[in-house]
Amino acid sequence: MMDNIIEIDNLYYSYEDEDNYSAVIEDLNLKIERGSFTVILGHNGSGKSTLAKLLNGLYKPTGGTVKVNGMLTTDEDKEFEIKKTVGMVFQNPDNQLVASVVEEDVAFGPENLGIAPNEIRERVDYALKSVGMYEHKDSSPSRLSGGQKQRVAIAGVIAMKPQCIVLDEPTAMLDPSGRQEVIDTILKLNKEQGITVVLITHFMNEAEFADRVLVMDDGTILDDGKPADIFSKVEFLKKCGLDVPQTTELLYELSKNGFDVSRGIISAEETAEAIAKLF
Ligand SMILES: Nc1ncnc2c1ncn2[C@@H]1O[C@H](COP(=O)(O)OP(=O)(O)O)[C@@H](O)[C@H]1O
Ligand SMILES: [Mg+2]
Repeated sequence: MMDNIIEIDNLYYSYEDEDNYSAVIEDLNLKIERGSFTVILGHNGSGKSTLAKLLNGLYKPTGGTVKVNGMLTTDEDKEFEIKKTVGMVFQNPDNQLVASVVEEDVAFGPENLGIAPNEIRERVDYALKSVGMYEHKDSSPSRLSGGQKQRVAIAGVIAMKPQCIVLDEPTAMLDPSGRQEVIDTILKLNKEQGITVVLITHFMNEAEFADRVLVMDDGTILDDGKPADIFSKVEFLKKCGLDVPQTTELLYELSKNGFDVSRGIISAEETAEAIAKLF
C-alpha cells in the first residue's frame, strides 16, 4: 500500500467571501508519497503559493480537505503537530532570517517549540551541517550570499525535524550558482535523510531530479508524471506558460522533423549524447 504523507481531496480555496466567490484552487486532488521528491511547475498566478500554504494549515480549505499524516488541517488540536511535520521555505531569504547570527537564527524555530537548550544545540549543529553552512554558524546572515542565506533558512526548518518540506520558489531571487547550491541541498535532504520534498518552481530544469512533476494551471493540476514524460510534451508546456529549456526544445524540434532522438531530456550532457547518436 502506498504511504502518503499528504492527502488532498476535492480542495477548493477562495480569497473572497461567499458572495463574491471565485476559486483560486478548484477541485484539486493530490496524494504525496512519503519520502518522495515532487516538483510543482506553473506560471505566475496558477495557484502554487496558495496551494503551498494549504499544505500545512497556514490557509484552511474553503471546500474539501487536506490531511497531513491523516490529520485534517482544519483540526485545531492538530495545528502544532501539522506545522512541525510540514516545514515551509519561501522565496525571499531576507524575510525569513530574523537573528543577527546564523546559529541563533537556526535556533529560533526549535526555541519556539520549547525544546531543551542542549537539544537545541545538537539540532542547530545538525541542521547547519545538513545544508553545508556549519562553518558559517557565527557569521551575520547579512554577510552571506543569497544561496547561503537560503540554505540557512532551510536549516531553520530542518532544526524543527520536519518529515516534509515545502519550498515555494526558493531559488527565484538567486543567481545561477546560488540556485544550484539550494537545489543540491534539497536533493541531499531528500536522498540522505528521507525528507519528503515538495518543490514549487517555474524553472523547468529544477524538475530534472524529481520523482514526479505536477503541472499546475488555473488552480488545478493539468498533468502529473515522471520528468521525462512531462518534458516531452513541449507544446503543452508552452501552452501552460512555462519556459521550456533550450535542450528540451531542440530535441523536440529534431524529433518533430523526423530525427530519431529521445525526447524529454533536460541536461546538456544527455542532449549532447542524444544528438551525437544521430551521427
Ligand atoms: N492574498 C491574496 N488575496 C487575493 N488574491 C490573491 C492573494 N494571493 C494570491 N491571490 C490570487 O490568487 C491567484 C493565485 O495566486 P498564487 O497562489 O500566488 O499563484 P502562484 O504562486 O502560482 O503565482 C492569483 O490570481 C492571485 O492574484
Ligand atoms: Mg507564488
